[in-house]
Amino acid sequence: MTKGLWSSYGTSHIFDCGHGFVELDRHRPGHHCASLRVEVDEDDSQTGLGTFMVGEAIEYAKTHDIHRIELTPWRDNPVSTAFASRIAAKYGFRYEGMKRQAGYRGNGQFVDAVLYAWVNDGA
Ligand SMILES: CC(C)(COP(=O)(O)OP(=O)(O)OC[C@H]1O[C@@H](n2cnc3c(N)ncnc32)[C@H](O)[C@@H]1OP(=O)(O)O)[C@@H](O)C(=O)NCCC(=O)NCCS
Repeated sequence: MTKGLWSSYGTSHIFDCGHGFVELDRHRPGHHCASLRVEVDEDDSQTGLGTFMVGEAIEYAKTHDIHRIELTPWRDNPVSTAFASRIAAKYGFRYEGMKRQAGYRGNGQFVDAVLYAWVNDGA
């Protein structure tokens, strides 16, 4: 069984399991909407850890007044878009559209981001 620990730094809540982390950032104190970031160490990828940690984030949200979670993979990243699509199917995130040029790669290059969101509808 994978174990990890939640810590909070300002508006950011992070679950670290030693092989990756998931972050929920509310952006301002007490805000009901958080953005989700998940990263898994390369050696541990494709073992289900990313999926597991998103599940942890949803459980955390339910008990910490976070009503909505946004996940915004960059459109041109096939791994993160495939992951987000699987997460959406498993946990009930819905596709809400395309955020034009919401990502910034540096050197003047902007990237579209796909918007998925989960809301706590009690399911
Ligand atoms: C994206 C990331 C979090 C996936 O973590 P992971 O633990 O490897 O994911 P899981 O093992 O839970 O896989 C879930 C699904 O994601 C997709 N996926 C994961 N890695 C993939 C890869 N290398 N290529 C294609 N699809 C992949 C698959 O659909 C997979 O389902 P399947 O195993 O039934 O095919 C990880 O690759 C990562 O840290 N990437 C860099 C940061 C990033 O892109 N974060 C996500 C932003 S949305």
